[in-house]
Amino acid sequence: MSKLKKKIKAAKKKVKKARRKLAKAQTRLARLETRANLPPYAELKQEMKGQWDALKGFAANGQQPDEQLLTAFYRNAQLITQYRGKGDDHYAEFLARIVSLEQVTGSGDWEKYPEAVAAVGSRVKGCHDIYKK
Ligand code: HEM
Repeated sequence: MSKLKKKIKAAKKKVKKARRKLAKAQTRLARLETRANLPPYAELKQEMKGQWDALKGFAANGQQPDEQLLTAFYRNAQLITQYRGKGDDHYAEFLARIVSLEQVTGSGDWEKYPEAVAAVGSRVKGCHDIYKK
């Protein structure tokens, strides 16, 4: 291989490495910025409590919740997992149940809605039993 081709190959390798480093730094920056703009935890949880009580009410009465309420609740459910020291070990399982609920409400499979709400509820209870004063 000519000297020039070897230099080009080495330069390409360096660029690839730099791109990986940049992507990692950008992800970290995005995460830090999200954390920097988080609302006060208790405030967010109180807002979420109102949404969650309403969603449970719809499940108990066999009714369908409105889209706006669902969207706001799902956004907050993602947001609470950005806080450190508030039950981090349970975030993945909580989010998995939120995703299942989203699939049920997104596909309009309302028969499964009460069960999906109960699955989220038991994860919330599990967390609060351990962490909530
Ligand atoms: C539907 C979902 C949830 C709702 C509606 C909810 C609601 C609440 C409310 C109303 C509080 C009291 C906030 C205050 O101080 O005024 C609270 C506290 C707390 N919740 Fe939740 N929660 C939910 C899910 C979770 C999950 C999944 C976890 C853990 C992974 C969690 C962990 C905590 C912790 C650690 C506190 C105590 C915070 C502190 O006092 O330092 N919560 N939650």
